[in-house]
Amino acid sequence: MQRFLHKICLVTGAGSGIGKATALAFGREGAKVVVADLDLEQAEQTCQALKAMQVEALAIAVNIAVRAEVEAMVKATVDRFGRLDCAVNCAGIAGPVSLPLHEYPDEYWHQQINVNLTGTWYCMKFELIQMLAQGGGNIVNLSSAAGLIAQPENSPYAASKHGVVGITKTAAREYATKNIRVNAICPTAIETPMIMEGRRKLAHNPEAKQAAINYQAMKRMGQPEEIAEIALWLCSDQASFVTGLAMPADGGALA
Ligand SMILES: NC(=O)c1ccc[n+]([C@@H]2O[C@H](COP(=O)([O-])OP(=O)(O)OC[C@H]3O[C@@H](n4cnc5c(N)ncnc54)[C@H](O)[C@@H]3O)[C@@H](O)[C@H]2O)c1
Repeated sequence: MQRFLHKICLVTGAGSGIGKATALAFGREGAKVVVADLDLEQAEQTCQALKAMQVEALAIAVNIAVRAEVEAMVKATVDRFGRLDCAVNCAGIAGPVSLPLHEYPDEYWHQQINVNLTGTWYCMKFELIQMLAQGGGNIVNLSSAAGLIAQPENSPYAASKHGVVGITKTAAREYATKNIRVNAICPTAIETPMIMEGRRKLAHNPEAKQAAINYQAMKRMGQPEEIAEIALWLCSDQASFVTGLAMPADGGALA
């Protein structure tokens, strides 16, 4: 199926994990893809994989926590491709430590709020300015199950991801009559470098990995490609009456 033929699709955090899977899925479905990431080398790798599929792609280095860089990312997209049809905001961080709130270092609080919440807000701001100018578009934000319920020992992550749900729902209502839909995905454990090598290092800790697997009713972690499929569906015409949704993708965990 080529649901995104000739569409211009931007994915942040597209150098790894869910963002990479989403960029590749857009490419398979006919889109021209902008691959944005803090890590340019990783973004280039995703870009090369797209080009090997005969997909037009552009890699951009961006720190989403820096307003001017986000503005430049959207400008570079429009300079190259003329418009921006779909934006999937995947870039995010989970923090380096697991601690209760009263012990949690201020520094990492600010880091996660700056990237996950303020960064996503900057992305939405400049994406929306372009989508309003061209008469429509689609935005999908990566929140988390931690945007819907608690994540013990990671209060900044839960706060930032609840915040992402808040700005998603608010923007959905603000632009509902402007041909712009805004939705969020709220996954539990997805097997990506973030959880395998990051804060909980599941790749090196079989007990923690089993606990992460058991959390889902399906008794497995999700795969980045399964989240990419949801992102594409939310961006597609098949989801034309869906806006303001914070959709769990959780193998039955929250049920
Ligand atoms: N993996 C999971 O279990 C899981 C669960 C729920 C939500 N999420 C969310 O999904 C999104 C993608 O996560 P992932 O698992 O693919 O992680 P990942 O670490 O594999 O990929 C995240 C990417 O974002 C980039 N990035 C980090 N900070 C950035 C910044 N300031 N500016 C630009 N790019 C930046 C990284 O370089 C990396 O390439 C994140 O927002 C994450 O919070 C992940």
